Amino acid sequence: MKDAAPQTIYLKDYTPFGFAVESVSLTFRLHPTATRVISKIRFTPIPDASDTRFFLHGEQLKLISAKIDGVEINTKMVEGGLEADVPDVPFTWETEVEINPQANTALEGLYMSNGMYCTQCEAEGFRKITFYPDRPDVMSVFDVKIEADGDNTPIMLSNGNGVELSKARATWSDPWPKPAYLFALVAGELIAHRDTFTTLSDKQVQLAIWVRPGDEHKCAFGMAALKKSMKWDEDVYGREYDLDEFNIVAVDDFNMGAMENKGLNIFNSSCVLASPETATDGNFERIEAIIAHEYFHNWTGNRITCRDWFQLCLKEGLTVFRDAQFTADMRSEPVKRIDDVITLRARQFPEDQGPLSHPVRPESFQEINNFYTATVYEKGAEVIGMLKTLVGDEAYSKALDLYFMRHDGQACTIEDWIAVFEESTGRDLNQFKLWYSQSGTPEVAVREAYDGTTFTLHLSQSSAPTPGQSQKAAQVIPVTVGLLNDNGDEILPTQVLELTQEEQSFTFEGHASRPIPSILRGFSAPVTLRQDIDNTRRAFLLAHDTDAFNRWEAGRDLARDSLLGAVLEGTPHNTAYLQGLKAVLSDETLDPAYRALMLGQPSQSELASELHKMGHTPDPAAIHTASEALRRAKAEAFSDLLPGLYADNQVAGTFSPDAGPAGQRSLANAALSLLTRLDQGKTAAQQYASADNMTLQLAGLSALLDAEKGEDALETFYDQWQNDRLVIDKWFSMQVMHAKPAALTKTVRKLCDHPDFEWKNPNRFRAVMGMLAAHHAGFHHESGGAYELLADWLIRLDPVNPQTTARMCAAFQTWKRYDQTRQTMIQGQLERIASQNGLSRDTTEMVTRILEG
Ligand code: PHE
Ligand code: ZN
Repeated sequence: MKDAAPQTIYLKDYTPFGFAVESVSLTFRLHPTATRVISKIRFTPIPDASDTRFFLHGEQLKLISAKIDGVEINTKMVEGGLEADVPDVPFTWETEVEINPQANTALEGLYMSNGMYCTQCEAEGFRKITFYPDRPDVMSVFDVKIEADGDNTPIMLSNGNGVELSKARATWSDPWPKPAYLFALVAGELIAHRDTFTTLSDKQVQLAIWVRPGDEHKCAFGMAALKKSMKWDEDVYGREYDLDEFNIVAVDDFNMGAMENKGLNIFNSSCVLASPETATDGNFERIEAIIAHEYFHNWTGNRITCRDWFQLCLKEGLTVFRDAQFTADMRSEPVKRIDDVITLRARQFPEDQGPLSHPVRPESFQEINNFYTATVYEKGAEVIGMLKTLVGDEAYSKALDLYFMRHDGQACTIEDWIAVFEESTGRDLNQFKLWYSQSGTPEVAVREAYDGTTFTLHLSQSSAPTPGQSQKAAQVIPVTVGLLNDNGDEILPTQVLELTQEEQSFTFEGHASRPIPSILRGFSAPVTLRQDIDNTRRAFLLAHDTDAFNRWEAGRDLARDSLLGAVLEGTPHNTAYLQGLKAVLSDETLDPAYRALMLGQPSQSELASELHKMGHTPDPAAIHTASEALRRAKAEAFSDLLPGLYADNQVAGTFSPDAGPAGQRSLANAALSLLTRLDQGKTAAQQYASADNMTLQLAGLSALLDAEKGEDALETFYDQWQNDRLVIDKWFSMQVMHAKPAALTKTVRKLCDHPDFEWKNPNRFRAVMGMLAAHHAGFHHESGGAYELLADWLIRLDPVNPQTTARMCAAFQTWKRYDQTRQTMIQGQLERIASQNGLSRDTTEMVTRILEG
């Protein structure tokens, strides 16, 4: 049997499967290199089906036997699976196959991670476990029997409720029909951290987080996050959990963050395990969000799933939106919004502006794994946020109730989703749907006019061509606006302007003096805003805007312009910005977490993108110099303020990862980073030496590395944490992040020779190679050495783990921004990757799209 050859799949070609699956019963006889999987599947032909071909997906399976209704049959092996002649009445299909979990380094299907059996089936991994119609619109109930592999697998888990659990055998039954991508099995030596949750209808759910012995002390936070998520989904969406138990497992080798398998979520250990000593505040927050995300999928993804993989955003966009609401409720709403916009600009905007640009709902793909992107996830969530803004909170709730009621148990499309909003609001959402089909980031330009009483905003929208889409239609863009007077008082609270045409004007009557608008409050749409305003106006908004997001944004705009001026004209840093920022930092009524964000500045990559859009060729070295100079300018301008900010935000007492103390630590650490530029690392050394939690220890180390005084600390850090993989990932990352641009490849080469560089582990590979690509000035160093080094490692990883390799190819997606020499070097590396024999379908698609886009 051959794996499927690269081939483009189109949304427009969707046809339903000609058979319904009534039930699936699976038996696993576990063995590291020869696991047997026996399947018994009840099929019913669907009357008048348009496609009557009986084709089952299957890859890397050794077929032992196949039977229909108990009689051995002949099957025909075809590309990507098998075909058989089957009865035109209901029948029982039985196969036995053999698979090799140990040899499965791709981490898709059934594989072994550190002696533990584990599965990953989304998107198309179930076909590596047994022959099956591996498509999300085929849903069935599953019964699973697991037979132990000697004494090594005392714990054996699968979806649903445990029916019979003994040392040699476990039986699981999942009563909820599900697509195969939600199947999961875990077996090994595991320990449970247990708790219970009582649902809104008073049912008790047994909760467990399963970890390897030694990690028990890192589960409490994840468990608390799970219980909060369960409660929140009841309170806010009326969604109750639907099984007697809910299990989470932590595994060390995992391609993504986590997976929402029904009743048995599987987590990358980095996304669930946390203790104050080993995890930073950032880790805690991320873990809480990912636990919530996977839990929320139980309704948005599992009970209502996707008809086909083109509809991925149906579950992902909505679930990201829900987890963002949750985090905003648990922590600070403006801080969460700012964090999300920073991520969107860092990850989604570059995707949209480069060769990989695709709509939130793509129309074709070769390898679906390549479409788990920031566009599908984060822009997909933004689209839902806009919908909510346009229809209002109440209508949003009503539409969701209808969605859950009407589509429970179904595999749906974006059309189904939009229809519940159209029906429950009576609104025509045809034009809104363009957000799902049109790629690229729209630009909204604003012009202001005032005649003594009437204030007018002239808005226009445009969108640059993207691959496959040269002409764009006007989209529905909710632009939120508030008005301020000269004193900074809000004279008109936030309104939603609906920009639906290419150009449109909005008037505000009865203003005796010229109002000052605050536009795109809360970042009401994923667009770039072009506003012809000067620094005085921006400084005013930085001082007075009543919208926390836009106040932050004003500072960000000032920082960006200051940096661009420094890069292009060598102008000194903007004093209006520094003064305004100083006032904000000193304002103790403002949340420390928010003030810490205010201290940030646009990333070097964001500046490169900006320069490119302005028609300049970005010079990574100049951008690096300007960015560092701005930090130094801040350190000097705030020299009298920093020691106080640092001292006042030290948190006493037992560590708590809650938003309050975490915000204080983030402000103190931001102050420390600047202070280090003034005291040569004195404060940082003290903090590093006395830290009793990872947030402080890592920030101390980071500042010491900045001051080029980190050598000893790196050694003690390693000695202290060498047995903790997740912390050692940080140790690797830190050294890459803090390398001088010209020394980056040398540093990384040295790290790659370290005995702990277990490159087949995705977390470790990303800790080094991901950071190499993220180091803007070093990655784009004129020598081209980093391009070559990354390409070398991608070529090495591809045969081992195509998914992780392909994702990391995106490091090259911005190549057309840079000068001819760099472009030629990158092109050479991409072509070298493309020319490898046997290159995976995943990587082939990515490299080709990047080269051709
Ligand atoms: N569905 C997972 C999530 O977003 C992500 C994932 C995709 C994990 C594919 C593994 C493989 O929650
Ligand atoms: Zn998800």
